[in-house]
This record gives sequence, structure tokens and C-alpha cells, in this order.
Amino acid sequence: MNTISIMNSIEYNNAVEQLNLWAYHYYVLDDPINTDEEYDKLYHIVLEYEENNPDSVLKNSPTQRVGDNISDGFMKEPHLSRMWSLEDIFDTDGLQKWLEKTYRLNGSVTFYCEPKYDGASLNLVYKDGVLIKGITRGDGTIGELITQNVKTINSIPLTIEHKETIEIRGEVVIFKSEFEKINKERLAQGQALFANPRNAAAGSLRQLDSSITASRNLVFLPYGVGVDNLAFKLLSDKMEYIYSLGFKKPPQRAVTKGFDEIKEIYEIMHRDRDSYEMMLDGMVIKVNEIAAQIDMGYTVKVPRFAVAYKFPAVEKITTLKDIVLQVGRTGAITPVAIVEPTDIDGVVVERATLHNFDEIERKDIRVGDRVIILRSGDVIPKITKVLTHERDGNETKIEKPRYCPVCKHELLQEEVLLKCQNLECDARIVNAIIYFASKPCLNIDGLGIKIVEQLFREGLVKSLLDLYDLTLEKLLKLEGFKEKKAQNLLNSLENAKRSEYWRFINSLGIEHIGEVASKILAKEFGFCWVDATKEKIVECEGIGEEMAESVLEFVRVNRKTIERLQTILQPLEPVKHKEAVENLFKGKTIVLTGTMSKSRGDIKDMLEALGAKVSGSVSKRTDYLIYGEDAGSKYDKAEKLGVKTLSEKEMREKI
Ligand code: IVH
Repeated sequence: MNTISIMNSIEYNNAVEQLNLWAYHYYVLDDPINTDEEYDKLYHIVLEYEENNPDSVLKNSPTQRVGDNISDGFMKEPHLSRMWSLEDIFDTDGLQKWLEKTYRLNGSVTFYCEPKYDGASLNLVYKDGVLIKGITRGDGTIGELITQNVKTINSIPLTIEHKETIEIRGEVVIFKSEFEKINKERLAQGQALFANPRNAAAGSLRQLDSSITASRNLVFLPYGVGVDNLAFKLLSDKMEYIYSLGFKKPPQRAVTKGFDEIKEIYEIMHRDRDSYEMMLDGMVIKVNEIAAQIDMGYTVKVPRFAVAYKFPAVEKITTLKDIVLQVGRTGAITPVAIVEPTDIDGVVVERATLHNFDEIERKDIRVGDRVIILRSGDVIPKITKVLTHERDGNETKIEKPRYCPVCKHELLQEEVLLKCQNLECDARIVNAIIYFASKPCLNIDGLGIKIVEQLFREGLVKSLLDLYDLTLEKLLKLEGFKEKKAQNLLNSLENAKRSEYWRFINSLGIEHIGEVASKILAKEFGFCWVDATKEKIVECEGIGEEMAESVLEFVRVNRKTIERLQTILQPLEPVKHKEAVENLFKGKTIVLTGTMSKSRGDIKDMLEALGAKVSGSVSKRTDYLIYGEDAGSKYDKAEKLGVKTLSEKEMREKI
């Protein structure tokens, strides 16, 4: 039967509401309550209904997020009220002075503190509860109308339960992980890289083709309102109201009384800065009493009632001293910049990645150049810009090498990569082992770069399989290995057994096959991926010809090693391909909450491999709630409903 005929307008309304609720949990609350599959299925039913009933399409239907092409640039558009910028302060001295100035205007105010997001500012205009305009900041008075692009941002509601006209202001950001992903793709396609997440966000927002904006996973974080008729006395209450309309909350916020409390929350935000998904460049302090804000007013440039207390910069200027070459596990040669040591937010940076030789050529990077380097989070620092105007003529061009720096074999250019062709190259073997043990692979604690290099140098480990021939006796002969360290390493190797199957595939280091592709292969084929044909592999969404060929070639050369490793490691085959063995969790509905030793996704994969269903919210039908640290409302709800609760440790014991 056709799906259209079974959906009436009430069901259509309910379906749109359901999709929006799922999207709100996913994009705004960061706490999904459904699967992608469920979402896609319902989305397509809604789409079909709308194609047959074009006059009854709801304004907040998720299908309305797909925008058009704008051929001749964006129109200018005035803001209903001015968008201000902020005065900056950099230290406690600056804070003291700003507070004194503010207290002179009003001695009894409190302060609302929230992150200063590093992205692009955006003004949203809602009328009669419907998003009608999205405008860039521009000069603060007039910006550019980018409504079509703005509608593709999932954390921006298309409709809100507030019917008066309101301007909601905030920052559009790209999460650090997404930025890394975009640049990785651009690198593979030989495109110029974005210098930092801020540029990537601003560039993505101003795309003439809104499908490009849609593909960039932008996120909107509200920080204030322009024109509004809200009667709140406190900014903190006003912001809570804005969040309640369906917008994302800041990762940290607080109402503070004075110097000490402001300093305390600043230090917390600064300390946690790397762990936030978005880039922060400081903390914004705003007078919390709205009447006092109005009283204090503005200078010609900035409000008197707010200030940006900046964090130390993550971008610094330094000098490029030398280039060294690194040989990766696939033989790819990565040029690494050695720079004049520079302190970037408490970490002395001496090396930075230059990605590849095309990138060096495109940026015309030379030894001796003054360069901008970016360090954020735990990713490798990178050179983002060359200050060519600072050159004095003593800079030297960087030549493409012809031979492998480790084994001296000739190098070949393969598309954007320069590669050592020697499969036996020491660097390739060592890096393959380092990769095998790394976090997105088997996550073997204590088997980092230094130890792998030592094991290789001493002749104990010359291949992945050798890792599982290590014994206490052999390890104790190595320098720096006492009983405890050796035993810990052996335990870690043991603990890496029975991992999720995708981790096993990923750990093999097959070229072009990363975490995502490994998950697809594991899910589609289970243990049989080694026998899958090219036709079957390319049928998987997200896997192209080149990747499929890479899999086949890898299996052709390494089948024996794969089989032996699999016998030793006994990874868990995904349920779709194998009935899970009997265990406590098989067939049970489980909810996860709190911070665990591994990511929520990893724990979910593991439980699903055991035949459990992992759900987002606790109900009477939940069999177990498994909790980590700082478990919150889900734990309380489980207790209330009498759902069995298990700590992560108890769960592991039961497995
Ligand atoms: S408030 C009247 N709050 O920083 C107050 N701005 O340097 C005006 N920004 O253009 C701005 N996070 O794009 C405010 N929590 C935050 C912010 C924030 C980022 C940006 C914003 C503004 C710039 C000012």
C-alpha cells in the first residue's frame, strides 16, 4: 500500500512534531532518543505527504530546512536594533578596573557569565513565532540576508512558542571535531584548508549554495536578544526563557556577585576550554539586572554593562626553523614544521603539521618565514598562515623530497600524497603498530609511540602479531621496565581483546578505511568482510570504489595476518550477523547516563554487540540503567520507576 494514503493531516502534524522533538534532543540537548533509521523513515513519509499536499506544508517541517541556490549574492538587510561588539580585558587587573567602573555606575549589580564563542555572529528575526530572517552582523547596523542558509542549521528552530516579534542573537560555530573532518576532506581533494573553526563557520554561513552550508554541521548558540518585549528583570531569566524556546544552552554559565566569583568561573571555563566541543576565546561578563543595563547604556562603540574577559590566544606568531619528514603507516610522507618554541595557552609548541607538499606550495611556505600557528584542544598544532609581508629575502624554498628519509626508497606521488613504496620500511611498520594501539583502534593503554619505538628497536616487536608474543620475562629485559610497568602493558594487551568488531577492522590500518568505514563494513558484513566482493562493498552507502579496492588489496596481501590476529583478539561480531551469545543484557532495553570510562557511543556499540537495545530515555520498559560519574535526572527517574541500576563497573563484571 502506498504510504501517502495511510497518512492524514493529523498524522502528518504529529509526524512533524515527532521529527522536531527527535531533532531537538539530538541537536540541542545532545541527548538522542531515537535512531537515524527511525528519523529517516519518518522524514521520507512526511516528504511524500508534502509532495502530494503542497498547500499544507507546515512552516516548521524539517523538509523546509533544505534551501535554494542564490545566484547573485546576498541582499543587504538592516537589523531591527544595533548589534554591538564588546570591550576586551585580558587579566585580573583589567577585571578589577572594569568592575570599579561598573560599580561606580551602580554599586549593587550582579553578573551573568557565559562563554565567549569563537565563531560568526548571527541575528535571527522571529515574527508570529516563525523564523523570517537570518542576518549576518555586518557593520552592526546592516548585515546580509542569509535566511536560506540559516534554515539549514538544525539547532535553530524554524518556529518558536513566542508570538511577538523578537530578535535572537548568537554565534554560529563549527565544533572542533567537525572542523578537523572538513579539513581532512578538503586535504584529500586538494582544496585549500580553512585556517580555523571561526573562518570555517563564517565561510560556511555565506555560501551561495545552501546545500554546502547544510553539509557543514553548523551550530547556533544564543547569547542575547535585540528587539524584544520580554518583561524579565534579570538577564539570566531572559536567557533561560530563550533556551526554553528550543535553543542550545551554553556548556557553562553562572550568576556571580563580584571579583572572586567571576575569577573562579573564568578559571573553570579556561581550565575546561579544551574539553568543550566549540572554540571559546574568553568569557563574557554581563550586568544581570536589565534595568541597570539600560541605565548604564553604551559608549559610541560598546555597551558599558558587558565586557569580554579573553583567554590566552590559541593562535600565535612564530618562526619556521626547519622541516622534517615523517613516514606514516601507509607510507605517506608528512612534512612537519619545527618552529621557534612558543607558549600557546600553557603548552610550549615546537612542532606543527604542514599536512602535505601541495599545501606547502599553495601557501608558499619557506624556512625562515614568520607564520601563524594554531593549537586548540588535543589535536596537533598547525600552521594556518604565512606572513609573507615580513620576509627579508633570507627565507629558503622547501623542495619536495625524492627519497624516503627512513629507508631511502624512491618516493612516488599518489594524487595529493607523496609516498614511500617500500612495504618493509621501518617507519611504516612502527606507525602501523602505533595506530593499532591508538584510541580509535584497540585503545591499548600504555602502548604509546615511545614504547612501540623501543619494542621495535630492541627487536621484540617487528609486526602486529609479535605484540601477542610478549611475555613478562622479555619485557623485564628492557630499559625502564619494572615488574609493574611490564605487567600493566600485558594487562592492557589482554584487555584489548573482545573489542567491538569495527575497532578490529579499523586497527588494521587499511588505507582509506577509517572509523566510519570500519563501522559500515563491520555492520554490513560482520566477520565475512574479508570475502566481500567489490560490487557488494561499493553497494554500502559511504564506501566508494577507491575504498573498496583498498580493502580488496589489503585482504589479498594480508589475509593470513588478519585471520591470525582475529583468532588471538576474538573481537565481537555485530549482532546483525550473529546471534549474540547468552548474557545478562541480551534482548534487554538499557539506558546510559553519566560520564563513563569510554564514550557513550562505544559503550552503546558494546552493549548492542551483546544483543541489547540502547534507548535514550528511561521508562517503565527500561530493564537497566547503567550509570557513570555525575549521573543526573535519568538516574533519579530510574530509581523512582524502580528500574534496576548498575554502575559501569558492575556492568563490566556482569559481561
Ligand atoms: S554579547 C551587547 N555574548 O563577540 C553585547 N557576544 O566581541 C554584544 N560573542 O559580535 C555581544 N560570544 O559575535 C556576546 N556570549 C557572548 C558572545 C559574544 C561570542 C561575539 C559576538 C560579538 C563579539 C563581540
